[in-house]
Amino acid sequence: PGLDILAKRAGLLYFGTAIDNVVLNNTQYTSIAHNASEFGQVTPSNGQKWMYIEPARNVFNYSMGDAIVLPAIAHRQLRRCHNFVWHNQLPDWLTTGNWTKSELEGILENHIRHEAQHYYGECYAWDVVNEAFNDNGTLRSDIWLDTIGPEYIALAFRFARKYTRPGTKLYYNDYGIERINNKSLAVAAMVEDFLSREEPVPIDGVGLQAHFTAGTSPGYENITRVIEVFAEKGVETALTELDVRVKLPDSSEEMVQQAKDYADSVRACVDSESCVGVTVWDFWDTVSWVPDTFPGFGDACLWTANFTKKPAYYAISDVL
Ligand code: XIL
Repeated sequence: PGLDILAKRAGLLYFGTAIDNVVLNNTQYTSIAHNASEFGQVTPSNGQKWMYIEPARNVFNYSMGDAIVLPAIAHRQLRRCHNFVWHNQLPDWLTTGNWTKSELEGILENHIRHEAQHYYGECYAWDVVNEAFNDNGTLRSDIWLDTIGPEYIALAFRFARKYTRPGTKLYYNDYGIERINNKSLAVAAMVEDFLSREEPVPIDGVGLQAHFTAGTSPGYENITRVIEVFAEKGVETALTELDVRVKLPDSSEEMVQQAKDYADSVRACVDSESCVGVTVWDFWDTVSWVPDTFPGFGDACLWTANFTKKPAYYAISDVL
């Protein structure tokens, strides 16, 4: 059986993958990507980001997002939608605009309103705000913080709740929060603040991106502990972008370590009541973001360039 079938038997809601627009013409790729017994959930790795969705002010283009979401609906795969607010992959008109606070708040609401309504009812979850914190737990300086102030996060969640279908899970998503540290504790404090306000800020989940390196990934204990911290604050969690990169050139020892790190991470989610599912950040090495972003590293996915399953694939099915 595929990974999603096993994941559901193990009590998860889904096992999913990110899908990238650049390879949708490859039928070997799409036949795995939209195989619902393997992947019961998909995330567009780029297609729903601001630069593609609103390339000019108040001009919306959903073609890249739709190219992933529509086949996923047809194949009955859940969708995690990604993302409304981030510091990266913003269009030039937005980053060079020199906006006032109220102008940028208006732009933010207009963007969320349009995108949320286009995908109304089509998303199990939305990553409402992505990567807002620095490793030391302070907020990242970017156009949102610098123009609107720290309240931009709460504002984005309120807009998301207003325009998405009731029941849509609203997530804060980040990397480096897969263990207890300054950053994850700051995210937990934010959740506590949001939910304890007189007018609570609607947040349902925290996404642990889980971009790991073989041999130094946080491991079962660390991941289960931080998931428990978020659960105590009242939110669900998911591993939203799991991949385990290795130092190139690859070796069989590294593949064994990678398999262990993948399996431990998945097991941590399975064993945690509040962790709903696992998404890998693409399944095919050829389209992984890793080599471009981390020079000297790669081979981070479950399928090799020639579409054979790696030890990590079988290690995951063993723990599911
Ligand atoms: C990455 C995509 O995979 C790349 O194709 C793109 O060039 C850059 O963004 N954290 C996130 C994702 O939340 O949106 C990023 O995706 C990977 C890191």
